[in-house]
Amino acid sequence: MKGLKGRVACVTGSAQGIGQEICARLAEEGVRVAVIDIRDTSQTVDRCRELGTEAEGFHLDVTKKDQIHQVVQQVFEKWERIDIWVNNAGIFDNTATVDVSEELWDRVSDINYKSMFLCSQAVIPIMEKNQWGRFVNLSSMAGKMAYSEEIAYCSTKAAVLGLTRALAVELGPKGITANAICPGPIETEMLKNTYQHLADINGVTLEEWSTSILKTIPVARFGKPADVAALVAFLASEEAGFINGQAINIDGGLVFY
Ligand SMILES: NC(=O)c1ccc[n+]([C@@H]2O[C@H](COP(=O)([O-])OP(=O)(O)OC[C@H]3O[C@@H](n4cnc5c(N)ncnc54)[C@H](O)[C@@H]3O)[C@@H](O)[C@H]2O)c1
Repeated sequence: MKGLKGRVACVTGSAQGIGQEICARLAEEGVRVAVIDIRDTSQTVDRCRELGTEAEGFHLDVTKKDQIHQVVQQVFEKWERIDIWVNNAGIFDNTATVDVSEELWDRVSDINYKSMFLCSQAVIPIMEKNQWGRFVNLSSMAGKMAYSEEIAYCSTKAAVLGLTRALAVELGPKGITANAICPGPIETEMLKNTYQHLADINGVTLEEWSTSILKTIPVARFGKPADVAALVAFLASEEAGFINGQAINIDGGLVFY
């Protein structure tokens, strides 16, 4: 992809799953990668380095403003630029509305949504200096559709779309774009745990539950983290500069708006 080689990207929540694959794909494109997570990032860092790029792990809880500013500073000191910021860290929750405690609501909101505001705020001044930047924010098809007993998840993923549009109009004139991605079911630990839970409460096996969902996906397969990573790489590239403020579905044809 054009214009990615030599850039510096930060990817939150990239110890595993979609985030890890985004790092690996950007590494393949010659991007230097800051692998950011509350968990051990060494597996992702090793993968990126094996692909021939520079990579460094950063321990960060994305809900902590002070830590965010420290990590942004450390990345900038290391590579003297930050071009791409992928807000990927997120948690799923399926609790019935009446059972969602205020603490749970705040936790899901802080990780899935407020963190994106805090991270963006910290890195914007660096991007502005170069008059170039790319934000890619992970929403979900749950940001457009509604699912029963997912009030916290659906609300926060919809909020990501509003945040992304606000960034897009404010930063567009400065050469910085912001776009959101709305994945359907992607084969990761998060999906497996979710489906196991749903299978349990519906009294079926994990395989039976997965098969029933699969039947609803027009392309007849689940998404892979690499599908999402390819879209992120494109949105981060030079050629995607006219795409701004969008909420792009990547779901095999499940959602049409
Ligand atoms: N897997 C799917 O089907 C799917 C579908 C739609 C959207 N998404 C979204 O994609 C993103 C990645 O999902 P995934 O399936 O790879 O999930 P995952 O659970 O496999 O990975 C999420 C990562 O985020 C990290 N994380 C969680 N809280 C954090 C915090 N406070 N600070 C820093 N890191 C933190 C975790 O340690 C983990 O490494 C999430 O935002 C998720 O909502 C996933």
